[in-house]
Amino acid sequence: MENDAYALPPGSRVLVTGANGYIASHVVDTLLRLGYLVRGTVRTQKPWLNKYFEEKYGAEVFDTIELASFDDQSNIENHLHGIDGIIHLATDVSFSNDPKAVIPWVVRAIHNMLEAAAQSASIKRVVLVSSSSTTDNLYPDPRGREIHQDNYNERAVKEAWDETIPESKRRMAIYAASKIEAEKEAWKWMESEERSFEFNSVLPSFTVGKVLHPEIFGSTMGHLRKLLVGDRMAFSLPEQWFVDVEDVAKLCVVGLLDEGVKSQRIFAFGEQTNWNDVVPILRELRPDNKKIPDPPKDEIRDRTEILPRTRAQILLRGFFDQSDFTSIKESIANGIEGLD
Ligand SMILES: NC(=O)c1ccc[n+]([C@@H]2O[C@H](COP(=O)([O-])OP(=O)(O)OC[C@H]3O[C@@H](n4cnc5c(N)ncnc54)[C@H](OP(=O)(O)O)[C@@H]3O)[C@@H](O)[C@H]2O)c1
Repeated sequence: MENDAYALPPGSRVLVTGANGYIASHVVDTLLRLGYLVRGTVRTQKPWLNKYFEEKYGAEVFDTIELASFDDQSNIENHLHGIDGIIHLATDVSFSNDPKAVIPWVVRAIHNMLEAAAQSASIKRVVLVSSSSTTDNLYPDPRGREIHQDNYNERAVKEAWDETIPESKRRMAIYAASKIEAEKEAWKWMESEERSFEFNSVLPSFTVGKVLHPEIFGSTMGHLRKLLVGDRMAFSLPEQWFVDVEDVAKLCVVGLLDEGVKSQRIFAFGEQTNWNDVVPILRELRPDNKKIPDPPKDEIRDRTEILPRTRAQILLRGFFDQSDFTSIKESIANGIEGLD
């Protein structure tokens, strides 16, 4: 797509929250590659991150500010001077078993970001990184069903507050509920307020692929990597759709820049994949590794059709001239590069 059709011209400055995170660092990388300036928020300074981007893209294109909490709206406003767009990724990924410690602040964070953005005349676009877990995709369905654009996982919201739900299931429900309530809050805010900017959300599924820096654990990819040393923790993450991290970053950029994309949920669902697929891929990529555990015995093959992912494919093609989502095998190979 030609630059003059972008909602923000190259050279504009974009705020990326939680910039040291796995996906956010790729969002920063993609923006810098396209000629944007980026201000990242971090909870504590991360000099290695500044060094990494400075060495790759030169001085003065990336800076960081410390923002340990999103509770103080006027503090957020102070950091928005000179900012033209926002991509909000920072969230609670602790998988805590306490809904009160997670859900309210995650919702407050996007609310305050939107309120603060509305005080700034320069901000034209806000993108929220939501999650596939906001849809019923969290529950695999072997019989097949369809997931539509406006699907929300209401079951997780109930389970998050239900103390009778087994703890491992509840932790996931609490995370999902925080993402659902935050995304709904954003859409509600956009409908009810006089808005000076456009808003889109991106819903990544289980994200895998390259980890940009050794200081970055890699979130979902970090857990997948640990299968190489026999750690089975990844198997407790119930995902049925995987996506490449660089594709997610690109779709965030589409949500920020594509003039034809307004008020959309962008479904970043690359491939229907479960642990029965991942383990053979890992064994093929690392044939000498005998520590890779067998997949769980009770894996269900999900037959859900994610209708809006076609739109995401079209956006990747239109904006980045990329024919399709990256294959999960290629993503996993990138994600374990340098590891035995
Ligand atoms: N990975 C996936 O498969 C996946 C799938 C769907 C959606 N997502 C979404 O993608 C976004 C990024 O996730 P990620 O996988 O890249 O995780 P990540 O690498 O763990 O990044 C999370 C970021 O959020 C920050 N953060 C955590 N708790 C915070 C708090 N209480 N206050 C302020 N910042 C906080 C972290 O800061 P610290 O480093 O200081 O802790 C880090 O910068 C999240 O919104 C997540 O829900 C991820």
